[in-house]
Amino acid sequence: MKFKLSLVSGFVLVILFVLSCANGEKKQLNPNGDSELALLMREMEANALDMKKFIETGRVPASDYDHSTLFTAIPTEEGKTDLPEYKTMAQSYLDAMKSLQSANQNTAAGAYKDMVDMCLSCHKSMCPGPVVRIEKLYVGE
Ligand code: HEC
Repeated sequence: MKFKLSLVSGFVLVILFVLSCANGEKKQLNPNGDSELALLMREMEANALDMKKFIETGRVPASDYDHSTLFTAIPTEEGKTDLPEYKTMAQSYLDAMKSLQSANQNTAAGAYKDMVDMCLSCHKSMCPGPVVRIEKLYVGE
């Protein structure tokens, strides 16, 4: 009986993991509700799409986005954000975002691309589901 239970909960965990890193097209994929981190990611994606519009028209994105809760938001998969790999890449993303926020007319397009690169590098190693979706943030995609 005990064995069966742990088998079932193991199975549920696997499903949760797969869902959390699925491409996130549908809202409320996770039966227990979306994690804080998943909600933050959607906000980050929406913010990036807004900034893309500025870049596409040769303007400097006006933004005061603060995504520093990357370090504290609770993920779907327990412990994921405690990994050193995650923390390093979260910091690189925040640094890239900071450069973008202080960019000028000449540097904004490059800084925007660097920021999207950081979304991708974390996703390629930790959460490949949304990769295709993130690639669409590049100008010209
Ligand atoms: C430091 C690593 C890291 C960075 C940087 C990062 N992500 Fe994520 N992302 C994750 C993890 C981990 C999840 C899984 C979250 C969960 O389910 O709790 C995720 C989930 C997502 C999801 C799916 C959300 C959902 O609805 O379930 C999307 C879309 C996404 N990220 C887009 C982005 C975009 C766009 C950027 C850059 C602006 C970005 N991510 C930067 C680690 C990262």
